[in-house]
Amino acid sequence: MGFWAPFYPVLFPLLLLSTRLVAQRSKKVIEIMESARLIDGHNDLALQLRRYFNNNLTAVDLKTLNKTNTNINKLKEGNVGAQMWSSFVLCSAQHKDAVRLTLEQIDVIKRMCTKYPDFELVTTSEGINKTKKIACLISIEGGHSIDSSLAALRMFYELGVRSMSLTHDCHTPWAESAAEKHNRQSHRNASLSKFGQEVVKEMNRLGMIIDLSHTSSNTAKMVLNISRAPAIFSHSSAYAICQHHRNVPDELLKMIKKNNGLVMVNFYSGFVSCQKLSNISRVADHFDHIKKIAGYESVGIGGDYDGATGFPQGLEDVSKYPALIEELLRRKWPEKELKAVLRYNFLRVFRSVEKVKEQLKDISSSEMEIPFEDVNNPCRLNLKKPFPNLGLSLSKTMPPALNIIHTVILYIVSIILIGY
Ligand SMILES: *[C@@H]1O[C@H](CO)[C@@H](O)[C@H](O)[C@H]1NC(C)=O
Ligand SMILES: *[C@@H]1O[C@H](CO)[C@@H](O)[C@H](O)[C@H]1NC(C)=O
Ligand SMILES: *[C@@H]1O[C@H](CO)[C@@H](O)[C@H](O)[C@H]1NC(C)=O
Ligand SMILES: *[C@@H]1O[C@H](CO)[C@@H](O)[C@H](O)[C@H]1NC(C)=O
Ligand SMILES: *[C@@H]1O[C@H](CO)[C@@H](O)[C@H](O)[C@H]1NC(C)=O
Ligand SMILES: *[C@@H]1O[C@H](CO)[C@@H](O)[C@H](O)[C@H]1NC(C)=O
Repeated sequence: MGFWAPFYPVLFPLLLLSTRLVAQRSKKVIEIMESARLIDGHNDLALQLRRYFNNNLTAVDLKTLNKTNTNINKLKEGNVGAQMWSSFVLCSAQHKDAVRLTLEQIDVIKRMCTKYPDFELVTTSEGINKTKKIACLISIEGGHSIDSSLAALRMFYELGVRSMSLTHDCHTPWAESAAEKHNRQSHRNASLSKFGQEVVKEMNRLGMIIDLSHTSSNTAKMVLNISRAPAIFSHSSAYAICQHHRNVPDELLKMIKKNNGLVMVNFYSGFVSCQKLSNISRVADHFDHIKKIAGYESVGIGGDYDGATGFPQGLEDVSKYPALIEELLRRKWPEKELKAVLRYNFLRVFRSVEKVKEQLKDISSSEMEIPFEDVNNPCRLNLKKPFPNLGLSLSKTMPPALNIIHTVILYIVSIILIGY
């Protein structure tokens, strides 16, 4: 103590100065975030609404809900301007009721975003640009949600879905998941089958953002090779910083740069530090790395809140984004780059996807069907086989005269059976 005594008169002003600098930085963070409101790529609140409330919105106040990482008050505190809400259903629903469950998740997102005046459902980049509210975008997580049907994909677009990841942690019959890379698709030696390539083309044509989070590297490479529009990783971090299969290796970062696409950094500690515990500094390392390899134009934010358990100290919920921006500011990220990361990179990608849609507007929808042997499972009716012999179904192949006799017989039979 005695040693420091002579320095007190110097130390005290230094301390004052440093607290002032920190205060100035916080003010700067708010300024930046208010002028470039965050667009986050991935949030699984809808999954938690299913889990805790069976999608009963009457049972929950989304302003203050605190079982989750996400509520409206926290979104506002975090300066969130738009959220891509994930309509995710478990891989165990594949080949079962995945399509219905996905419809129910889209439904709950739509109801949530119309019930609360703080939200506004949008389906275009212009919609995000215009609203002063928290813009709601709908995405699908995992190609199993379309049950290998381009018609289902198109109808999801009609419902407002603007992004889909090709897989979750399971292969689809047409694309490979990173989680199962050691268990390659047995029936097709293809990271993206012919039908999978058609899904990519159809998403380009529709104007749906292709999301590569969860897909295997080979699948991602093939997509980046054929897609006419930029693609995104909606919630993945840098493999060089944490060697997890959900993260993006440098080779793909370079391809994303060429594609003008985007990697939206996931905050889950397991992907940030490959450990249970993590911190903001480690998260910022991912931003630095992706910027180094792919440029700041390809960096975004996809927190994955409510999709994982275990977030870094200081980034526990959606109110905490400013702490990250503060750290990046401390690391000398220029204001212009931070605004791009927060908002403008995503808007650029979304606009390009819309532009490709416009360019392809004269191409009609694809009528390709997946080969039946690729989806031969007990829950799929094979409409190509002769129908069960119900009589009625034959009418299209019978000559007209027989058809009339057939109808008369059916009429008589129904009078006998039903009574009129
Ligand atoms: C939904 O929640 C409300 C409020 O808790 C409850 O009154 C209602 O019965 C619930 N509806 C269903 C179908 O469970
Ligand atoms: C969470 O919400 C419940 C019910 O609304 C309330 O009783 C509880 O105190 C809240 N907990 C915290 C930590 O805010
Ligand atoms: C976004 O909105 C601002 C004004 O609110 C406008 O100046 C700008 O042109 C818009 N950009 C696009 C691409 O719509
Ligand atoms: C299987 O896929 C690999 C990697 O895409 C390729 O190199 C190989 O030629 C393929 N084999 C067959 C039989 O298609
Ligand atoms: C990318 O496309 C080129 C040209 O069509 C082809 O030669 C190459 O094999 C493709 N690479 C992958 C990974 O699909
Ligand atoms: C953050 O975590 C990393 C390991 O992931 C550790 O090396 C570092 O010391 C931590 N930093 C702080 C400020 O806690």
